[in-house]
Amino acid sequence: MDLTNPLAALEVGYDIPAHPGMDEAQIQTPCLILDLDALERNVRKLGDFVKAHGIRLRVHGKMHKSVDVAKLQMEIGGAVGVCCQKVSEAEAFARGGIADVLVSNQVRDPAKIDRLAQLPKLGAATSVCVDDLANVGELSAAAVRHGVSLACLVELDCGMDRCGVSTPEEVVALARAIAAAEGLGFAGIQAYHGAAQHLATYPERKAALDKAIALVKRAAEALTAAGLPPELVSGAGTGTFALETASGVYNELQCGSYAFMDADYGRIAAESGARLDEDGFEHALFLLTGIMSRPRPGRAVCDAGLKSQSVDSGLPTVFGRDDVTYLRCSDEHGVLDDPDDALAVNEKLRLVPGHCDPTCNLHDWYVGVRGGKVETVWPVSARGKVY
Ligand SMILES: Cc1ncc(COP(=O)(O)O)c(C=O)c1O
Repeated sequence: MDLTNPLAALEVGYDIPAHPGMDEAQIQTPCLILDLDALERNVRKLGDFVKAHGIRLRVHGKMHKSVDVAKLQMEIGGAVGVCCQKVSEAEAFARGGIADVLVSNQVRDPAKIDRLAQLPKLGAATSVCVDDLANVGELSAAAVRHGVSLACLVELDCGMDRCGVSTPEEVVALARAIAAAEGLGFAGIQAYHGAAQHLATYPERKAALDKAIALVKRAAEALTAAGLPPELVSGAGTGTFALETASGVYNELQCGSYAFMDADYGRIAAESGARLDEDGFEHALFLLTGIMSRPRPGRAVCDAGLKSQSVDSGLPTVFGRDDVTYLRCSDEHGVLDDPDDALAVNEKLRLVPGHCDPTCNLHDWYVGVRGGKVETVWPVSARGKVY
């Protein structure tokens, strides 16, 4: 099949929004585009950071769900593997050739545990989080059944109020059970403070992380005293990774959004006080949209609504334009304030999605653009893999 011919591709069921060589303005909208130069700069930037600080980086693949982006992060960005949140997502990465996959989540459904235990057969060293003694037996039985070894991290709730045990004593009890279980290996602690990532200022994030780090440190010390020193202490995201790195307790980062940078992350303040998208990482993911109507003066309507983006963390911003504002959306429409009547029908705008992770899951393709031209089209490999 000639994938460079959109109509031929459509005939065999592949509806692709662009092909290499096209101008950005010719891409079918709404469509996710990646500014490949910005993406590579973001990926290299964190790669340089982890190299300079001697800390491991296992990027969070749930953000982009793309084998191609994960491979880029491993090739030029210092990543040793990926994290995922779901078994089906992990399968997509393992099938795509990612050799080290952590399911940074609890897996309890028997059918999912059985699938998890088959991931090593796809060639991926597989690890998973645990926060309940009963789960240790379930995972062990599956590992033995499939003749594989699963590495387990005890999940410690360090302030997020989601999954995870709350005390060092519970961490030690789980670690002992894992270490004694056939087919399992105790790999360390998972402690991700998601609630701290988007706090608006650096001092707020630091205060939250100081508390989290103190708890994680006590857990790591209790494990060492029990003869089970944690090989890995894993966590951190785009908003706080420098704090976990400086802690001397964490030795693995799980950043995800840094590669794409959404509007919500863009407006938090970096340590310098400047916006994170001015003193940190650049916006590399955009939702390309086309103007489809100019219903009255001062008003334009674009083709990107709720079905092509998630607005749980706020509406998108219009990249590079101070003169127009995205006001509201319905399923297939986005309404823009255009006081100067600057927008023309069919004009294309780059929107910066409010929240990258759930937005990416709505699309089949990333169109990689460089210098105004389409360079590549990548599938959103684990799109819809939410089980
Ligand atoms: C367990 C875990 N680790 C890491 C991350 C990555 O965070 P971010 O995208 O903020 O870098 C997430 C995101 O929600 C997460 O749930």
